[in-house]
Amino acid sequence: MKREANLCKQCPVCNGLACKGQIPGVGGIGQGNSFINNVKELQKVKLLMDVVNDIQEVNPETTLFNKKYAFPLLVAPIAGIKNNYGTDIPDYVYNSELAKACDEQGISCFVGDGIDMENFFHLPARAIHEQGGQGFVTIKPWAMEKVIERINLVKEFDVLGIAMDVDAAGLPLLRNSVTPVENKDEKALREIKKLCDGKPFIVKGIMTTEAAIAAVNAGADGIVISNHGGRVLDDCCATIDVLEEIVAAVKGKTTILIDGGFRTGTDIYKAIALGADGVLIGRPIALACATEGVEGANKIISKLKSEFQHAMRMTGCATISDITKRKIKKQTM
Ligand SMILES: Cc1cc2nc3c(=O)[nH]c(=O)nc-3n(C[C@H](O)[C@H](O)[C@H](O)COP(=O)(O)O)c2cc1C
Repeated sequence: MKREANLCKQCPVCNGLACKGQIPGVGGIGQGNSFINNVKELQKVKLLMDVVNDIQEVNPETTLFNKKYAFPLLVAPIAGIKNNYGTDIPDYVYNSELAKACDEQGISCFVGDGIDMENFFHLPARAIHEQGGQGFVTIKPWAMEKVIERINLVKEFDVLGIAMDVDAAGLPLLRNSVTPVENKDEKALREIKKLCDGKPFIVKGIMTTEAAIAAVNAGADGIVISNHGGRVLDDCCATIDVLEEIVAAVKGKTTILIDGGFRTGTDIYKAIALGADGVLIGRPIALACATEGVEGANKIISKLKSEFQHAMRMTGCATISDITKRKIKKQTM
């Protein structure tokens, strides 16, 4: 039976229009322009069809952080399923179901974080561990002693790596909380990387080349180009619009991931063509999993995979490395 998720409008296309300003809820901050813009700008990138070739089979597999992926998709961290979707399950259940589906699909997911460390961080991290360790934990940019506390907690768990959503420094609810979040500079990120004890460290919430270079200099194994799905700053540039310049600055020095407004397999293709190594999708997969559990998550992930494979086939790409800038065109509308 489908679970309710009455705080999400469940629109045919998840584009930020119906839920703008709704936090708690799944909307973008303020007028919701950053969320809306992420989706809109992606639609300006178009694929160049090319079927005059002898390609019989396409292979969408890739390797990220030494793990083989069925295709370049990861599920973004979404914390507070109850408060944001209105679904009556704890984050532990959501993340257990999500991790199970991701494992079945040959991809991985991130789990989130919140003020209530037990329910929003510790138990979700445990869920990843119990489902085979094929996921990442994400830590908010708390003051250092809280970061250390969380890193120590996950030391007992099998996880693929540790991320920090540095952009959460802009979440109003957290800035004024008893355990406040703060901006992290290169030195602080270097310290956190050291605490990860050799596990991959990913900095999530990068929107400029300067921030990307600082993350690389701090030793980050990966970055996520992200504006937190438009939840931390209104009128923020769309993530797809900063991808190329960040790729030019740090490609090959770190793994480049991106999120914000990706809705289809062809959207994932666009980011790969512009130089990303992988794409995170948040809201649509979270809704599917929150309402329909493992089955719902499986359904949407396999749909995304077949769309991605179809795009590869129709643009003459047998492997991921064939997907290049020459396969797309950016329209000015
Ligand atoms: C309800 C909700 C909760 C979120 N919680 C977290 C979190 O705990 N940690 C984090 O790094 N990002 C969090 N995010 C941001 C997402 O990980 C991701 O960056 C964003 O949603 C991607 O855009 P998309 O949802 O348009 O695909 C959250 C987003 C939403 C909508």
